[in-house]
Amino acid sequence: MIVTIPNSLAPPSILAFAAELDGLPAAELYEFDFGRSRWFPPFSMLLLAIILKRFRDAHPESRCRARNHEHHTYAAHLGFFRSFGLQHGNSPGAAPGSDNYVPITRLDIEEIRREAVDRWVEVGDVLEAKARELAGVLTRTDQGALFDTLSYSIREIIRNTVEHSEAPDLLICAQYWPTRNEVEVGIADAGIGIMRGLQRNPSFADLDERQAIQTALMPGVSGNPLAGTGTDVWQNSGYGLYMTNRICRSGGKFMICSGNAALQLTANDKMDLAGNMPGTAVRLLINTDRLPDLREQLQRFHEEGRRAAQTIRGANTSFASTASQMLSEDFQGNEIDDDF
Ligand SMILES: Nc1ncnc2c1ncn2[C@@H]1O[C@H](COP(=O)(O)OP(=O)(O)OP(=O)(O)O)[C@@H](O)[C@H]1O
Ligand SMILES: [Mg+2]
Repeated sequence: MIVTIPNSLAPPSILAFAAELDGLPAAELYEFDFGRSRWFPPFSMLLLAIILKRFRDAHPESRCRARNHEHHTYAAHLGFFRSFGLQHGNSPGAAPGSDNYVPITRLDIEEIRREAVDRWVEVGDVLEAKARELAGVLTRTDQGALFDTLSYSIREIIRNTVEHSEAPDLLICAQYWPTRNEVEVGIADAGIGIMRGLQRNPSFADLDERQAIQTALMPGVSGNPLAGTGTDVWQNSGYGLYMTNRICRSGGKFMICSGNAALQLTANDKMDLAGNMPGTAVRLLINTDRLPDLREQLQRFHEEGRRAAQTIRGANTSFASTASQMLSEDFQGNEIDDDF
């Protein structure tokens, strides 16, 4: 049976393709046709890799073969084909990551935890360093509004994966196009998904997947029932997704897919899509044209978020300042901890 990879590689058509794969009848051979050469955006590449890997794993008795994959040298270079098991091109993480891109890269969560223990630091500190490293690869700098915005946003999304997803690893892929004034970052895990993540908090136990992704984006909403209590800077407060989606939406786009729900948001628009994803995948699309100072932006979102949280049932409305509401420089140095 021939399965045609969709011509449009925009996330909505990949989500539709995932549903199509689910409905395919049993066959001895599935031949995936990658078609003519075209642009594979980072997040689309991640989604497609996850979906194809899931299909491969669900059909252990069938043969899966690729055709026309050799047209896609750039995707091959970024580790796309190897990330779902096809022996073609680079392995994930093998491309050097220059020219403002991060190839498909797998981060091992257990390894991150071990590194934190070995270095006597918090997991959040290790993730902060990882996020800064990735933002540095993309921007070729270690300061400025774009660097700050990217390291903050990447940190918050990978923190969520590590803190909430229960997945063993996460995938990240990103690219910055200076001439287009655009950065795209995709981060995905195959964990428990947003709905089950939120259900840990009794206030949000009855939401379905669609309601859960909408609710998780609101300020003060956390699956951690202890959100907002305590003074630890890495304590959850329910602001990570709220802040990152607001950052992306000023000029760019934010997308989140989890289970059977997906949501794409721009400054004025909300697109509700049927999803079909194991775990959680987030796309950050940031417009780098006239990017505002991140510190001021976070402060404003923080204040607006606090006010909005008062009206959201179950939201954390405490005033503890935690990492998701601040830039790293705002809390570094405050938390020197020599305990052991
Ligand atoms: N990758 C994920 N897997 C499972 N659940 C998730 C994931 N990302 C987010 N969630 C759920 O969405 C909730 C809201 O996330 P958000 O980042 O806004 O707040 P938080 O992580 O709880 O707190 P903070 O970001 O302030 O530390 C999480 O508490 C969790 O229940
Ligand atoms: Mg968070």
